[in-house]
Amino acid sequence: MFRSRVMSVPLGLLCRCKAREVQRASKILRLVTASPVQTVRHFNGVNEPHQQYEVSHAHPRVLITGSLGQLGTGLAKVLSRYGRNNVIMSDILKAPRQTQESGPYLFADILDFKKLQDLIVSYNIDWIIHFSALLSAVGENNVPLAMRVNIEGLHNVLELAKQYKLKIFVPSTIGAFGPDSPRNPTPDLCIQRPRTIYGVSKVHAELMGEYYFYKFGLDFRSLRFPGVISADTHPGGGTTDYAVQIFHDALKTGEFDCYLREDTMLPMMYIDDCLRSIVEFMETPSERLTMRTYNVSAMSFTPAEIADAVRKYVPNLAVTYKPDKRQSIADSWPMRFDDSNARRDWGWKHHMEIDDLCRAMFDYLTPIYKDTSNKMKEQVA
Ligand SMILES: NC(=O)c1ccc[n+]([C@@H]2O[C@H](COP(=O)([O-])OP(=O)(O)OC[C@H]3O[C@@H](n4cnc5c(N)ncnc54)[C@H](O)[C@@H]3O)[C@@H](O)[C@H]2O)c1
Repeated sequence: MFRSRVMSVPLGLLCRCKAREVQRASKILRLVTASPVQTVRHFNGVNEPHQQYEVSHAHPRVLITGSLGQLGTGLAKVLSRYGRNNVIMSDILKAPRQTQESGPYLFADILDFKKLQDLIVSYNIDWIIHFSALLSAVGENNVPLAMRVNIEGLHNVLELAKQYKLKIFVPSTIGAFGPDSPRNPTPDLCIQRPRTIYGVSKVHAELMGEYYFYKFGLDFRSLRFPGVISADTHPGGGTTDYAVQIFHDALKTGEFDCYLREDTMLPMMYIDDCLRSIVEFMETPSERLTMRTYNVSAMSFTPAEIADAVRKYVPNLAVTYKPDKRQSIADSWPMRFDDSNARRDWGWKHHMEIDDLCRAMFDYLTPIYKDTSNKMKEQVA
């Protein structure tokens, strides 16, 4: 029966499918061969000689914490190139059916050390991608919880990564800088005195990760991301969320209330660039990295500039500016990010500028809102 089904597929289609598979496989192969295989490192006298670990594997088994958020959902899809069952998603939320069907998904509270330990052992994990966090605006509304999730949670994963010799990625943010940092541009190394619990917890994560690297040889890696813009998930309560919401409101109502001033410039990045940066960074041989935490960026814009770009698609978009308490957070953050070290050390390059990201957002969202409004019209009729 199986044979007859295969036989009934037209030969041309079969060839096209095969060609696509070959293309995809060679892309994966390029990515994989670019990664170091089983390198063992010693650290110039800072670490004890017995502190060794495997830097990477051809097909790492990856645990993503906080994987149902804006970044985790997309990254799990990208990493499925390592094998469907090699990406273990985890969070404290009930996952949509689609996620549950796409590969392993497990409940894991970042504060539950034993549960995480069990998961790492049972699934033979090689890398942790640590996304669980409360973001800037949410964190300010619940400081005790933000301290627990962002700081205690980090301690758990760092310690586990050390014990089990895992490679670990912990994202940082433009929010790790503060009003005393140079803001235009902000280099990798400068004064960091953030004024949000989110920012403080991220500086803590950067320093703790680097400490574990120097002290224990842990392969800790971190990228400081700007505001990340995506269409397929809703943002998790950060100060840059307006740059996602404007697309939804433009399509839904043609009106947008912006909680930042029109001239507030912040660095931003489209999700595809963000996810690609993580994969490329994680696959970079350790010896090419001169730092453990890098700025990465793509573009900077103000609410007025993104509104103008959106008006190319929704010409009558009406925007009102009503700054709220997130304005003071934004005013303390970088306006432009200097990511020249990432570009030099591991070849970071962004692909998407403001017009590209508008096109991508409208390509994704327009059919969805059209469909909804058609359904509503049908219901009214
Ligand atoms: N999205 C951005 O613009 C941006 C920018 C810079 C850095 N980052 C960083 O990237 C990471 C992911 O960001 P995101 O936008 O996907 O965040 P998000 O808020 O969308 O997702 C975070 C996830 O963490 C989970 N979580 C909360 N408490 C938890 C707990 N106790 N145990 C386990 N999971 C828990 C949440 O359920 C949520 O799914 C965060 O560390 C964030 O600081 C994000």
